[in-house]
Amino acid sequence: MALRFVCDGQLVELDDVAPGDTVLDYLRERAGKTGTKEGCGEGDCGACTVLVGTPVAGEDRLIWRAVNACIQFLPMLHGKAVLTVNGLGTGLNPLQQTMACNGASQCGFCTPGFVMSLHGRAIGAVGAELPVGDVLAGNLCRCTGYGPLLDAGAQHPRLAQDDAALLALLRQVAVAGPACGQARLPDGGTARWFIPDNADALATLLAQYPDARIVAGATDVGLWVTKKLIDLETVIFVGDLAELGTIAETDQGLTIGGAVRYADAHAALARLSPDLGELVRRIGGLQVRNAGTIGGNIANGSPIGDGPPALIALGATLTLRSVRGRRTMPLEDFFIAYGQQDRSPDEFVESLFIPCPGPQDIIHISKLSKRFDSDISAVCGAFCLRVEQGVITAAHVAFGGMAATPRRATQTEAVLINAPFAAETIAAAAQAIRADFAPLSDVRGSAAYRLEAAGNLVWRLWHQAQGLPVRVQEVARG
Ligand SMILES: Cc1cc2nc3c(=O)[nH]c(=O)nc-3n(C[C@H](O)[C@H](O)[C@H](O)COP(=O)(O)OP(=O)(O)OC[C@H]3O[C@@H](n4cnc5c(N)ncnc54)[C@H](O)[C@@H]3O)c2cc1C
Ligand code: FES
Ligand code: FES
Repeated sequence: MALRFVCDGQLVELDDVAPGDTVLDYLRERAGKTGTKEGCGEGDCGACTVLVGTPVAGEDRLIWRAVNACIQFLPMLHGKAVLTVNGLGTGLNPLQQTMACNGASQCGFCTPGFVMSLHGRAIGAVGAELPVGDVLAGNLCRCTGYGPLLDAGAQHPRLAQDDAALLALLRQVAVAGPACGQARLPDGGTARWFIPDNADALATLLAQYPDARIVAGATDVGLWVTKKLIDLETVIFVGDLAELGTIAETDQGLTIGGAVRYADAHAALARLSPDLGELVRRIGGLQVRNAGTIGGNIANGSPIGDGPPALIALGATLTLRSVRGRRTMPLEDFFIAYGQQDRSPDEFVESLFIPCPGPQDIIHISKLSKRFDSDISAVCGAFCLRVEQGVITAAHVAFGGMAATPRRATQTEAVLINAPFAAETIAAAAQAIRADFAPLSDVRGSAAYRLEAAGNLVWRLWHQAQGLPVRVQEVARG
């Protein structure tokens, strides 16, 4: 079956697509659309930003998202429309005109990415409601021309987007149902990909191909291809699987499907805990949050993923599914050791449940990174303390970046539980962190820095509970 999508208004059908072929390589090398640039090749600079429009089931509209073409795989475009800077036409549209008038383009190399991010904002793509600084946090300008770029974005021209013709084209290609394809690899082997159309089919495929690699948003796996030069052999794409894409909010808590993108879960997570919302706002740039999923952040087992420490502190449970049935476990039990998780090759992350914090719960989540936006954590600390009549009756404390897996700080918790919620208790807990962890030194921070910073986060929790400013913006506002 051919891979079908619409690129800048033209129908494209391709037969020879490997699962690891990137959208950027297709655009530049096969389609000749060299307006889209390659900078970092790892989702960090935004020079390759394109907009991807996905038809909404049962409705006459597309949802547009800005994504990094360098770490999106071509089969992920199946049944969708992609809009590149070449597709905006030859003259300047009002947004580009505004950028030109503001002097918001100097080198011209990063400019196509900025244009596409701001174009997405102007046509109401996912994240359009965010401040312009947040929309552009995933686009780097190396000559530091951010002032004019932000000014141009703030002038905020709204652009009309008529998707009727695109929808008609996409209907012609009628891509409902499962899809698959294959291609020859340079070593003579065969690479194949599948897009199942329901969770049972996904479970069956995983049972049939236990070596298959699940790909949701490809914001981790994309880098294995572009940086580690790995040839992916069998890939199952789950990013558009409706059953894994649901969010359900009840009085008990929030259930999030395994393939829900960060951008889509952001508002619900922020309602559950404002600190969790702030954490999500700082995961990658908008392009990364528009593709990356919470399930992928958990399944990759990274010791520095931002989601797991916060979710562990909040008492989240994880449900895995396979042809053999479902298993639910506390999220903390999923992480066994570095690179080892409690997941069989035929299981996939189906959903995550986060219980609602109670009225007496104090939640504090802090991410420390070298750069404020779009950077991975050196240390991420998350606290959920239940304080009743001045006494801490329950404490969940979890850290990322401090050990081989995200994990609870049990000795710190022991100091906190049944102690008065007072400065002396906080001082003892900040010291107890040193008994909980023996972190590594790496490029993000030395072991000594990590221990000191983790202890300071306990104080930050205390300051937040006293109503003192603890966030960069709060401090700036005074
Ligand atoms: C520029 C950039 C910035 C980033 N910034 C941050 C950051 O600030 N904080 C942070 O925590 N992370 C960050 N990341 C990492 C990444 O975005 C996250 O880990 C993301 O959540 C991964 O989700 P994904 O859907 O893209 O995963 P994928 O790349 O699709 O998959 C990742 C892993 O999970 C597995 N997997 C995916 N879905 C499932 C499933 N349903 N069941 C079983 N296995 C599954 C895959 O097989 C693979 O092993 C960043 C990445 C980039 C490129
Ligand atoms: S080339 Fe830098 S994000 Fe894609
Ligand atoms: S204008 Fe391109 S790097 Fe600054």
